[in-house]
Amino acid sequence: MDLIELSGTARALVAPGKGILAADESGGTIKKRFDSIGVESTETNRRDYRQMLFTAVGAGDYISGVILYDETIRQSASDGTPLVKLLQDQGIIPGIKVDTGAKALAFAEGETVTEGLDGLRERLAEYHTLGARFAKWRATYSVGAGLPSDYCVDVNAHALARYAALCQEAGIVPIVEPEVYMEGTHTIEEAFLATERAQTAMFSALVQQRVELEGILLKPNMVLPGYDSTKQVSDEVIAEATIRCFRATVPATVPGIVFLSGGQSDEQATARLNAMNKLGPHPWQLSFSYGRALQAPALKAWKGAAANVDAGRAAFLHRARMNSLARSGEYTPAMEKSAA
Ligand code: 13P
Repeated sequence: MDLIELSGTARALVAPGKGILAADESGGTIKKRFDSIGVESTETNRRDYRQMLFTAVGAGDYISGVILYDETIRQSASDGTPLVKLLQDQGIIPGIKVDTGAKALAFAEGETVTEGLDGLRERLAEYHTLGARFAKWRATYSVGAGLPSDYCVDVNAHALARYAALCQEAGIVPIVEPEVYMEGTHTIEEAFLATERAQTAMFSALVQQRVELEGILLKPNMVLPGYDSTKQVSDEVIAEATIRCFRATVPATVPGIVFLSGGQSDEQATARLNAMNKLGPHPWQLSFSYGRALQAPALKAWKGAAANVDAGRAAFLHRARMNSLARSGEYTPAMEKSAA
């Protein structure tokens, strides 16, 4: 393991003004996204859509890395250029989702454990040769009566750490993603406790399994009331609670925290990241690794038509720029209208 290289990659991924695009939708998830715009999920359509995003000129000013899915890291653009090369040509670091999904956890109704450890060492070696320099593994936790259970928290922490150690061994920066679901009726206090428990157990497992914390990134949920909670709060309260939770759980050696968007609207995800950065400076860089919040407007503008590719790129670049501004607390909602 070359820690200097790993920590260099991790720091490049959270360079000032930059964040990550999560474009690693699995077959089922991308089908859902395409269904929403009435486009069939064929291999060519998936390629065309991702080619559109990766060739948006100037994306590299705001996007440091892109998380790819197994199919995508092997695909080439319509002119034969590997999609990975399109990213590298824009100075963007290719990454790869390596978990194989959250599966039902035995004897734990409603809870999951994330799979994908078998053969991971060999898969990581191949992904490295294909250009991947960072990876992602997502564990999920529901909040509710007795949830998440200690059992669920422990098995996912253990798996996240096993994945992270194998990544570092292979020269790949692991993004560890313990996602406490933001769906539900729970309060912000319950989200705080669940997030604190998931992260505390995970960092303990990471240290026990000899993972170097300066060579990882954390991809968490924000601490907020469940979407169906009757007690909604302001972006400032969410920002304060999230930072307070992470100060208690995330060692300062971790170079960056890159949030998932998790079903927040694109503008909410930007405004809340902005509110957190306004409370800085923090021990870690606070950035984004958004899927839906970076892609939703681009997907809508594209609608599967070649004639809309420029509009799709413009919509993507706009969201990327707004989130880039939120990295330093310089975003205001008025910037949305002036660009429309
Ligand atoms: P969302 O931002 O759409 O939640 O996706 C990020 C991601 O990679 C979830 O694993």
